[in-house]
Amino acid sequence: THAIAYRAAILHSLADPAKVGLDASYAYYEDGVLVVADGHVRDIGPAEAVLARQPAGLEVIRFENKLITSGFIDTHIHFPQTEMIASYGEQLLDWLNNYTFPEERKFVDTAHAARVATLFLDELLRNGTTTAMVFGTVHKASVDAFFTESDKRNMRMIAGKVMMDRHAPDYLLDTPESGYADSKALIERWHNKGRQLYAVTPRFAPTSTAEQLSAAGRLLAEYDDVYMQTHLSENKQEIEWVKSLFPERKGYLDVYDHFGLLGERSVFAHAVHLEQEECERMGESDSVISFCPTSNLFLGSGLFDLPRMEEHQVRVGLGTDVGGGTSFSMLQTIAEAYKIQQLQQHKLHPLKALYLATLGGARSLRLEDKVGNLAVGKEADFLVLDLHATPLMQARMNNAHNLFEQLFVLMMLGDDRAIAQTYIYGECRYRRDH
Ligand code: GUN
Ligand code: FE
Repeated sequence: THAIAYRAAILHSLADPAKVGLDASYAYYEDGVLVVADGHVRDIGPAEAVLARQPAGLEVIRFENKLITSGFIDTHIHFPQTEMIASYGEQLLDWLNNYTFPEERKFVDTAHAARVATLFLDELLRNGTTTAMVFGTVHKASVDAFFTESDKRNMRMIAGKVMMDRHAPDYLLDTPESGYADSKALIERWHNKGRQLYAVTPRFAPTSTAEQLSAAGRLLAEYDDVYMQTHLSENKQEIEWVKSLFPERKGYLDVYDHFGLLGERSVFAHAVHLEQEECERMGESDSVISFCPTSNLFLGSGLFDLPRMEEHQVRVGLGTDVGGGTSFSMLQTIAEAYKIQQLQQHKLHPLKALYLATLGGARSLRLEDKVGNLAVGKEADFLVLDLHATPLMQARMNNAHNLFEQLFVLMMLGDDRAIAQTYIYGECRYRRDH
């Protein structure tokens, strides 16, 4: 079938710099070609070498002053919180009660859910995010609306219906039985339909009874390739609350562990304040952390210690956590991740940041065979980045001395304006209009 070659500078991540060193962690072609056919990467490399091995008459699209890279992967975000981003003044528990729960109530209306799902997915595309792990609301129909829109765009998404049967307003509660049945119906309808995948989604330990957490564990036992997503150790008050609700457990993580919610497809957002023993258990169970820098700063939650988690061999991805987070942009998210590591005297190299936002995210979501970089055979989700998106970026880039400096400037100054085009499964789904 019809193949297209895209010619520009190309950069993508090949491995974790912490494991293989910086030099072996990426590939860069100053004049590169990416060949895409049937939604997959067919070839990649230096332009002349790649073009020489392609059949004659291949269509070539050339980009000037652009950088092609693989799509960004956001490992934690709430689509129903799109229109409450930047809500003033509160930390986690008051923020949930005062802003979040009333906003999520609106999703009882299916038309509202469909409208926000559309806005949300368009915003992801504008920001170069091609895969995300997404919370819905407690309403089953919110997740139907989400997957319907995501499937239309052919985006590889993981999402789930919130399970929440206590400590929230009545209008947002399900029950252990209905939460189980609704989740099961959604799994049957959407899991592995096209590029859609399901995540069992207990909101966090305080809003589920033991019966409901146990039902979540049962779903995971019944479907071995379904995901689990929740929140963990984000805020000090929250942690004390969990300890008081589950006094028989060793700590916050042990609540989830007791109900069988840990594992290689389990993603825990935040994990800012883990005890030593919890770090060990995360690594041992191969569970994943989603590091959400803009949210941790905005909600005043705390500083995530990335090297400490790596010592425990915990897989870590980056998340925006919109609407607790303040930006859809993974570039802005990287910039805040960098500053959070700086506050703890750690360095975050731009190649490590690139890894976290792409291949590391894919590994966190067990999607490394499908997305995360532009290796031959992977699904062709890629970006055309504009390193000269603003006058300031242009001036600063001209004063950058090598690829790493350019990449770092892109990460510190870049946002949606730096995304010139976003391709999903080989199709251009977003083009900036100037
Ligand atoms: N903990 C429980 N629910 C939420 C939520 O919606 N956002 C964040 N940031 N933390 C949570
Ligand atoms: Fe969250």
